[in-house]
Amino acid sequence: MHTRLLHNDPQGIATAAAILRAGGLVAFGTETVYGLGADAGNDTAVAAIYAAKGRPGINPLISHFASADAAFAQVAATPLARRLAERFWPGPLTMVLPRAAHCGISPIATAGLPTAAVRVPAGDATQALLAACGFPVVAPSANPSGRVSPSDAQHVLAGLDGRIDAVLDCGPCRVGVESTIIGLGGDTPVLLRPGGITLEALEDACGMTLALPARGNDVRPSAPGQLSSHYAPGLPVRLEATAVEPDEALLAFGPPLPGSGLSWNLSATGDLHEAAARLFAGLRFLDMEGHRRGLVRIAVQHVPEHGLGRAIRDRLIRAASPRA
Ligand code: TXA
Ligand code: MG
Repeated sequence: MHTRLLHNDPQGIATAAAILRAGGLVAFGTETVYGLGADAGNDTAVAAIYAAKGRPGINPLISHFASADAAFAQVAATPLARRLAERFWPGPLTMVLPRAAHCGISPIATAGLPTAAVRVPAGDATQALLAACGFPVVAPSANPSGRVSPSDAQHVLAGLDGRIDAVLDCGPCRVGVESTIIGLGGDTPVLLRPGGITLEALEDACGMTLALPARGNDVRPSAPGQLSSHYAPGLPVRLEATAVEPDEALLAFGPPLPGSGLSWNLSATGDLHEAAARLFAGLRFLDMEGHRRGLVRIAVQHVPEHGLGRAIRDRLIRAASPRA
């Protein structure tokens, strides 16, 4: 299959929407990362996403909508869900809610669960594409399963060229880490995945403390630990480095450790927004260039556990966890 690169203009967006409507797979940029899109109501197209990514069928997908009204037509929204939508949509928040009685999202996309993950992404091109489609679009991150997520169109092609119909080039992603996922099915809201909306902002909006799942487990409680290795570059990753070995590349944050030949600074000034936006490009760069230079590992400096640091640390811990 030849993968087309579409430009972010009215013609590119119309073409992307037409391919999706016909059951094809189109990657597109959101404010978080690039997603691999398919018509959420088309079982065959949804199944093709799992095949293109090599994704386990038990791992459900997020459905993307042009508006909160469109999202809440598919799930049973609670008053809290509506409040969070007002505050954070469009934006990097995903809510897991019970499927509505007449939910049109393919059960393949929700892996047979009684719940569905929904979000209204920000970004002009993303919004234009979803409006042109007029149906919900499921989109996991547009990378082969288990690998580093893509934050620009070239990253998508590096992993999926020839396996998908097209990439809509929306430029680099503004946020750089995936959406925060909140589970709203139970009595207390649960932080299922830290992401682009900080825990602090979410707790403020909820007016309560969120429950946190155990670190290192995948977000599906029914499959603990099953997918804990994720976001993995080819080179092994070593966290909390306080010194760099000669055969290591360095992923720095703030003042870099001395002695590394190959390094990428997430943010020299220690800015967590900048660090999130540069995270996946940095892992990809150090992996490729480190491999070329015969280095054996990526050493990572400490990143603080607050604000966007929580999402950054989550991705780094998964990148460093034992591989299947
Ligand atoms: O920012 C994002 O969320 C990006 C962009 C493309 O929107 N998408 C993304 O999708 O990160 P993906 O597939 O890489 O991650 C989706 C996560 C998975 O960990 C999945 O287990 C979880 O959402 N998820 C989806 N439906 C769920 C459900 N019903 N219950 C619990 N977790 C769910
Ligand atoms: Mg992903």
